[in-house]
Amino acid sequence: MSRKRIAILISGRGSNLPALFRADLGGDIVVIGSNKAEAKGLELARDAGVATFVLNHKSFPSREAFDQAMVDALNQYRPDLVVLSGFMRILTPVFVDAFAGRLINIHPSLLPSYPGLDTHRKAIIDGVKLAGCTVHFVNGELDGGPIIAQAAVHVDDDETPETLQPKVLAQENQIFPYAVKLFCEDRLRIEGKRVRTLPARISS
Ligand code: GAR
Repeated sequence: MSRKRIAILISGRGSNLPALFRADLGGDIVVIGSNKAEAKGLELARDAGVATFVLNHKSFPSREAFDQAMVDALNQYRPDLVVLSGFMRILTPVFVDAFAGRLINIHPSLLPSYPGLDTHRKAIIDGVKLAGCTVHFVNGELDGGPIIAQAAVHVDDDETPETLQPKVLAQENQIFPYAVKLFCEDRLRIEGKRVRTLPARISS
């Protein structure tokens, strides 16, 4: 089995990148792209010696035109897996269909609860006792698609969005590399809405 080629898209800090760089993913991060030239995560990528590119969504006449340009830019790196790591764009079918079954996202809530923005504030307002994060395959719905991995944290009585965010991020840093590794080891099977995780192969 050849090593998988991983492309990552970001829009901001790249707060999961250090964990992805550190982990044994069973694949190689070949490029990190962004829709924002000022994304801090691009500096982390360059420091790690990973190729980068930027496509500014504002330079395109439509979401579809931007998504097609993004697909073309990514395809130059022949990715087996495209990883959305804080890539804050609503994706059209142009993008989602191009990478169907090999496009994953991390989201800071226990999906299907709290898709979209401002997840920590919404969870606290609702009084939930558990919050968390989800890695999932991406389908056409906002933060939708078969779930690969989740992790939960307790919401304390005096929790605020500012205290909850780093608690959840610490869990993201654990489950994101884990999910990418499962993909790279060909251990994920999508069965309808569910993802089956196959056992690790025993190497001789
Ligand atoms: C992460 O917490 C991730 O779960 C979230 O953005 C953060 C990473 O962005 N993603 C979403 O909300 C996607 N719906 P950052 O690297 O800019 O901190």
